[in-house]
Amino acid sequence: MPKVSYSLPDGTVHDVDVPCGQSVMDGSVRNNLPGIVAECGGSCSCATCHVFVEDGQSFFDEPTDEERELLEFADGVRPDSRLSCQLILTDDCQGVRVTVPDTNG
Ligand code: FES
Repeated sequence: MPKVSYSLPDGTVHDVDVPCGQSVMDGSVRNNLPGIVAECGGSCSCATCHVFVEDGQSFFDEPTDEERELLEFADGVRPDSRLSCQLILTDDCQGVRVTVPDTNG
């Protein structure tokens, strides 16, 4: 099962096993980690699931136009910014590390 490492705004790091087919957002919300708010529940319409993907962009499909447009409204966007509800885990996703910004609320 893919393991995702979440670096949270408080400086803590949480390693979580997330089943294939679930998103990076699911893994955070289902384990009650703070920082990924996911207001829209994963339908790519809120941008409160913003994360930075470290070394891992290639694990995931390229962002859709919809995701790119939403990210324009997120605070603190960087080149490695993604919406974590759009990052679906597969068996190839070993060692995914994401950083959760403190601006998702
Ligand atoms: S949960 Fe709303 S855009 Fe990802």
